[in-house]
Amino acid sequence: MKVIAFNGSPRKKWNTATLLNKALDGAAAQGAETELIHLYNLDFKGCVSCFSCKMKGGKSYGKCAAKDGLTPVLARVEGADAIILGSPIYLGTVSGEMRSFMERLIYPYLTYTEPPESLFPKKINTAFIYTMNIPEELKELYSQHFLYNEMYMGLIFGVTESLYSFDTYQFEDYSRVVADRFNREQKAQRRRDVFPRDCERAFDMGARLVKE
Ligand SMILES: Cc1cc2nc3c(=O)[nH]c(=O)nc-3n(C[C@H](O)[C@H](O)[C@H](O)COP(=O)(O)O)c2cc1C
Repeated sequence: MKVIAFNGSPRKKWNTATLLNKALDGAAAQGAETELIHLYNLDFKGCVSCFSCKMKGGKSYGKCAAKDGLTPVLARVEGADAIILGSPIYLGTVSGEMRSFMERLIYPYLTYTEPPESLFPKKINTAFIYTMNIPEELKELYSQHFLYNEMYMGLIFGVTESLYSFDTYQFEDYSRVVADRFNREQKAQRRRDVFPRDCERAFDMGARLVKE
């Protein structure tokens, strides 16, 4: 079993990356081969609307024809047994890099048929890991976004699940930033008490992805 995780945060050791690594640890504990790809290390753009992936009889039908740093990565997804997409929430959605990645990952496989179908050659397990500042009580704010992502991932790849990490610890040193909205002690306490539980949930999710 091969699992690839994608980090949609520019930070390579913070909340999102930590949870992705935990999920990969969980998969590895079940004997899976794992890989973490930092999207911010790659040179790529989102969909440019060329529609090569939709052309009747076209040589790129069902595939992204754009050639850039994402091209070899998209090819590797076809060899994976599970993929995990991790992203911080930026202004109410996944980060720009994650969004661009999702356009290139999902759209070529999506048919404009009624009903829509998937051109992805097999079914694989997929998961999302979202990290964000808002507390869990406000999750409803982004629920439509989460729902859409699950809908597309489910349609294209098969079974999908989502893990949410709320009220994350955002700054290395809260005393140095203008952020009166946050209670420094509460943030630190949550980092200590709740984030480790999020990490455990991520580990379990990673294990589940390669077991089912
Ligand atoms: C540009 C930017 C926009 C953000 N917008 C939101 C937001 O709309 N909602 C939210 O809950 N958190 C928001 N955050 C906070 C991040 O989602 C949160 O700190 C996340 O855990 C960061 O992930 P990382 O530690 O892996 O980089 C934003 C952070 C940045 C840098």
